[in-house]
Amino acid sequence: MDKLKIIGNGPLEGDISISGAKNAALPILASTLLSPEPVTLRNVPHLRDITTTLDLMGRFGSRFELSDNMSLVADNRDITELRAPYELVKTMRASILFLGPLLTRFGEAEVSLPGGCAIGSRPVNLHIEGLKAMGAHIDIDEGYIKARASRLRGARFVFDVVSVTGTENLMMAAALADGVTVLENAAREPEISDLADCLNAMGARVTGAGSDTVTIRGVDSLHAAEHRVIPDRIESGTFLVAAAATAGRVRIRNTAPQFLDAVLQKLADTGAHLETGSDWIELDMRGRRPRAVGLTTAPYPAFPTDMQAQFVALNAIADGTATVKETIFENRFMHVQELQRMGADIELQGNTAIVRGVDKLHGAPVMATDLRASACLVIAGLAADGETLIDRIYHLDRGYERIEEKLAQLGARIQRVPAAAKAAGGRAVNH
Ligand code: UD1
Repeated sequence: MDKLKIIGNGPLEGDISISGAKNAALPILASTLLSPEPVTLRNVPHLRDITTTLDLMGRFGSRFELSDNMSLVADNRDITELRAPYELVKTMRASILFLGPLLTRFGEAEVSLPGGCAIGSRPVNLHIEGLKAMGAHIDIDEGYIKARASRLRGARFVFDVVSVTGTENLMMAAALADGVTVLENAAREPEISDLADCLNAMGARVTGAGSDTVTIRGVDSLHAAEHRVIPDRIESGTFLVAAAATAGRVRIRNTAPQFLDAVLQKLADTGAHLETGSDWIELDMRGRRPRAVGLTTAPYPAFPTDMQAQFVALNAIADGTATVKETIFENRFMHVQELQRMGADIELQGNTAIVRGVDKLHGAPVMATDLRASACLVIAGLAADGETLIDRIYHLDRGYERIEEKLAQLGARIQRVPAAAKAAGGRAVNH
């Protein structure tokens, strides 16, 4: 397994470009299954989760024309297989997003239940209940969700917990349903609005995306379209926190500051100087150590759970004590134990971490446990003294495009250590 070696060497400085949003590209790729005509997508990030998605859709019969400028054309004319198997679903929980589109266009679908994951139990009951409300027959059999419906019917569905992929799945299912669907207590993330924009470009009739009530008027078929995926707000936030934690200065380009209000507010509270333009953000710590900032995660537009781990790393070396409360996932503090190995002073009380900033972290061998926990360890390694070796970075590759190249561009001493090099006597190869 590849590892990442980081030698802390002071402030990050420079410019980098942000990639397309993973969490927008995944549902949008799934939505292309709704149309027999080709859909062109731009700004698709080059990530392991995207490769897994293309792999899975290839099994359904989807064909892709890939070009090297982050664009692709999805052709879903000849879909022959309606089953998402366990061996792929277990590597990417977002595969549940295929249930709605396959069922509504083809009248049946089978998607493996994703099972547990490192950050909590993550049930999919709301996806299932929502589709049932639209008239689907659903059985859970041999670990698979087996769904059938001759044609889904529009329905009113109230989410009792705000769910991002749950909202997206039902929006896609409703696009081809008979009648009007109203989703209440819907998620309001920018990725929901991006999916709605893509669906509408394909001829769907979705209104209210970005608010807590999304209305979808079903149509008989969807057509060819072109869509550009929004920038990744979590990748953006991760690079900004990395710059703040190292007392550096960074300008990120091809981003969308309007999606980052809660994160930018917290960064301002650390003492960072921030400037924004239409598609860029500059953060400058002017060489100063950040101040500790407390936060509570909650659905958008509040502070994102996907930025919690990165802020725990920042608080670990900040001036003062911060209370970080996680309200979305039950077990999302796996990074805390790894940070403690680097000298962090963090106390866990249920869903709350009390982080007392220390003057310095020290490099250590650590283990990534999930995608954002990996990002937290990278930030800690950049801010620490000495060498940090992060194991299991396949988690990182799921969601960050060329992270070591982008960080190296900002002056970081960072190197991917391929598994093969270790077997050959531990020689690291620069990437
Ligand atoms: C999405 C994001 C993920 C992010 C999360 C929360 C994608 C591909 N992933 O995940 O990066 O961390 O939103 O912002 O977009 N829940 C239920 N029943 C359900 C579904 C969800 O109880 O049927 C609960 C979950 O356990 C969790 C909460 O709802 O406690 C929110 O989860 P949800 O928004 O569904 O997360 P994902 O869509 O899986």
